[in-house]
Amino acid sequence: MYNKRELVKDIYYVGVNDRQKKLFENYIPIPNGVAYNSYLILDEKVTLIDTVDVSMVGLFMGKLEAVLQGRKIDYLVVNHMEPDHAGSIGLLKQLYPDLCIIGNAKTFGMLNGYYPQLAGCRQLVVKEGESVSLGKRKLTFYMAPMVHWPEVMVAYEDTDKILFSADAFGTFGTLDGDYLDENINTDKYWDDMRRYYACIVGKFGTATQAAIKKLSALEIRLICSTHGPVLKQNIAKVVGLFDKWSRYEAEEKGLVIAYASMYGNTQQLAEAAAEGAVAAGLKNVVVYNVSKTDASYILADIFRYNGVILAAPTYMNEIYPLMDSLMHKIEQRGILNRSLGLMGSCTWAGGALKKLTAFADAVKWELVSNPVDNKQGVSADDYQKAFDLGMAMGQKLLQ
Ligand code: FEO
Repeated sequence: MYNKRELVKDIYYVGVNDRQKKLFENYIPIPNGVAYNSYLILDEKVTLIDTVDVSMVGLFMGKLEAVLQGRKIDYLVVNHMEPDHAGSIGLLKQLYPDLCIIGNAKTFGMLNGYYPQLAGCRQLVVKEGESVSLGKRKLTFYMAPMVHWPEVMVAYEDTDKILFSADAFGTFGTLDGDYLDENINTDKYWDDMRRYYACIVGKFGTATQAAIKKLSALEIRLICSTHGPVLKQNIAKVVGLFDKWSRYEAEEKGLVIAYASMYGNTQQLAEAAAEGAVAAGLKNVVVYNVSKTDASYILADIFRYNGVILAAPTYMNEIYPLMDSLMHKIEQRGILNRSLGLMGSCTWAGGALKKLTAFADAVKWELVSNPVDNKQGVSADDYQKAFDLGMAMGQKLLQ
């Protein structure tokens, strides 16, 4: 019943949409869903590139059968072992027991751990730059460690110049009606792509830079990643975005104000700082309540903009826990070169500002103005100090 989705002659899209899952990796919201992409090459050796999350395996098998029409799969290329792509390997191997798995040495280290029942199965271990002939076509493999796990590799098909890129150049968001970027309006993906980068690959900027540099030597006409649309018209744009994000370079001038507030006082400091930044002429100002907006959205905007103000109350002599969590996530990603403003509050003894200052030291961002230190209710003087911090930040970011 499934339509065959032929990308180029004899290469088919056989991925699936996941519209059920609410949280990717069980913690990142995906209101627009996600696609697990997989590609099937019909050649003398029938070759599948990556599988899908095991929760979608029934649908996946149906899509495979629609293309295979009774043929068997000879090779399974495992570019990435994370279970959203490797999750169906065990069942696939049961259906196609003669299938040979292609991976690198690290792939098989993980495969044997996840699927001990496959120990001793047919395996082909590839190294950097090695090619495997499929018949008319061949695949050449390049290692891309830590984009996003250590075993990640990509496969290049040189007849049609296709890069099967694993997680690189992917995005959250299902594929609605078609999988090829030139057939759909891709505007809906850009915010999700930034958030995907910030959450999934954001820690691995150096590794992403190394991969982009290595792959820049290839002529690429199509990028087939494991998530999101196949790229044809948007290759330069998406590679450019991944390049910018992995250099931790902001896309544009703007300010993220992330605040925590139990009873609204610290929120007033955030409001005042936002007013100050806009009064300085800065147009891109976004204010987030860390208790309401998931950190993934805040992180994505920190990748997008060049300035950040964090504001939080003291909690148990330390800092409000959700701000602590956000700071940890920022630190984990090693985001570089942002301007930073700090505002702490307390009722009897401080603690938040100490934590915020320690964060500033850890990330080595440039501190703009003195931190605002508020006790109990927000006085006119406190409000003015927060406004002034926002204005100084606005002026700084617009330089
Ligand atoms: Fe989509 Fe790192 O797996």
